[in-house]
Amino acid sequence: MKYKSVKGMDDILPQDVWLWQELESRARKELESSGYVEIRTPILEETAVFIRGIGETTDIVTKEMFTFSDRKERSLTMRPEGTAPIVRSYIEHSLGNISPVLRLYYIGPMFRAERPQKGRSRQFHQIGVEVIGSFSPYADVEVLAQLDKLLKAFGLSGYVIKLNSLGCKSDKLKFTESLKQYLADKINLLCEDCRNRVGKNVLRVLDCKKESCTQAMRGAPNILDNMCLKCARHFEEVKSSLKALGINFQETKNLVRGLDYYTATVFEITHPALGTQDAIGAGGRYDNLIKDMGGECAGAVGYALGLERIILALKGHAARKPDRNVIYIATLGDAARLEGLKISESLKDGLALPNLVVLRDMGEASLKSQMRSADRQNAKVVIILGEDEMKEKKLTIKDMRPGGSQVSVAAELVVEEVRRILC
Ligand code: HAM
Repeated sequence: MKYKSVKGMDDILPQDVWLWQELESRARKELESSGYVEIRTPILEETAVFIRGIGETTDIVTKEMFTFSDRKERSLTMRPEGTAPIVRSYIEHSLGNISPVLRLYYIGPMFRAERPQKGRSRQFHQIGVEVIGSFSPYADVEVLAQLDKLLKAFGLSGYVIKLNSLGCKSDKLKFTESLKQYLADKINLLCEDCRNRVGKNVLRVLDCKKESCTQAMRGAPNILDNMCLKCARHFEEVKSSLKALGINFQETKNLVRGLDYYTATVFEITHPALGTQDAIGAGGRYDNLIKDMGGECAGAVGYALGLERIILALKGHAARKPDRNVIYIATLGDAARLEGLKISESLKDGLALPNLVVLRDMGEASLKSQMRSADRQNAKVVIILGEDEMKEKKLTIKDMRPGGSQVSVAAELVVEEVRRILC
């Protein structure tokens, strides 16, 4: 019997993991230098967190959640996204007391039972941020500017920031009504999914890509025409500040997003390298969510990037695999193996080099085969501890770079000698 990973849930293999680590470490550096602190919430939440948070009629809640009952018949769900759990945690632990405006970030796997295809999997990974405690348009601007900076730090270019505003809760309601009126005599022109959406979540008809639906929506009312003065001003402020900062965006009036918690600013970042699943990230404001989930009223804005899609978009101009400083310790016999272990620890402590990797052989391989292993690992330096070396209490250091030489030194000089070669 050969086992395989679960459909739509992929292994990240040792030969690929460096790029994930590189992106994660660039994100941590970027975000922490802007005052964001990491939060780690569990993979499992009570299902109600997502029904309440994301919305009962959304695609995620109706069709895409991995939900099951535990032994006590409690309904649990593997998180399909990070915002609702973070709001749950924010309220549960009164995180608002830490600081009036809290900047949080998270990195981790999310789970959605979608049909797998390029750029769409059932376990995928997000890097996300949530800024909780501000209604100001400048929070939206800060988040978008920081997002733009992060994508550049990943080495990405060619992406498009699509921007829209949904207005506040009552603007959304008014707009929902006027869309329903508009569609009253056009239901038959819509695709089957959109016909269902009209009753439950009519805004989603706006971003349906099917030809029949885009045709039917051609004369539809504009979301911005239904907006109250406060929301219109908020949106103007966001747009003019982004322009002043030189951050390019495309105002996209049909952008509505698939999660119910959004109000006011919404955005999506697309990349042309991706095909149909072209959103590498998305986000927006969710000013009612904290109150709706039982907390005090607090403004909030955030986004999440899909790491699998970022990596797809990076193909072609991917970050360069960082150069490792590999030192290989080749030993013969038990006593030499023990000595090799001591030397490897003193090299790690003494050298303090970036990307230092000290490798040792653990078996009974011959010196020749250990040299081959060193070569395969692209070792820059090999330290040999054979019988002669053990007798003379010395070791041989071989500089593996082209034209490199070999020296014999006393064990206490090993750190100095290797530093001379590598630095
Ligand atoms: P979302 O648009 O559902 O938003 O997901 C954000 C990003 O996650 C997408 O743009 C995409 O890159 C990636 N993604 C989503 N589903 C999949 C999938 N099945 N396979 C691969 N990648 C996927 C949210 O999750 C919100 N919580 C974002 C947010 C944070 N809004 C405010 N704060």
